[in-house]
Amino acid sequence: MNNKIIIINGPNLNLLGEREQSQYGSITFDELKENCLRKSKELGLKVNFTQSNIEGEIVNIIQDARKNFDGIVINAAAFTHTSVAIRDALSLFKKPIIELHISNIYKREEFRQKSLISDIVTGGIFGLGSEGYILAIISMQNLLKK
Ligand code: DQA
Repeated sequence: MNNKIIIINGPNLNLLGEREQSQYGSITFDELKENCLRKSKELGLKVNFTQSNIEGEIVNIIQDARKNFDGIVINAAAFTHTSVAIRDALSLFKKPIIELHISNIYKREEFRQKSLISDIVTGGIFGLGSEGYILAIISMQNLLKK
């Protein structure tokens, strides 16, 4: 069975709990990680939960994921709206990809309403808070069973 997934978090998500609680809630990055690891274990998925503030580092992580993982869940954070490099790296990943946002980016500032990756991913979750990560893990398990 395919069961290794990577959850990639972009810039400033390490400061969850501290940044804009009205958008992102009060959960901390470590608590979110813990919840994701627990859910993945329960579902029999191996998960790598990672975060970087650096665009090139995220590109490297995505490139390496081609060899080591069966699916990607990505909250590219601000890079969602700007990074052709992350889009191009994701295009090379020929397995399921779920785009994730804690907030509803389509209800926010105009510059957030454009995602450079939505049209190349398998599917997306947005606006459901940190619970979206748990839903993404469940969806990824279903996608990998197919
Ligand atoms: C975000 C939305 C982005 O616009 C923002 O830059 C983030 C987080 C979200 O999870 O809602 O950092 O991706």
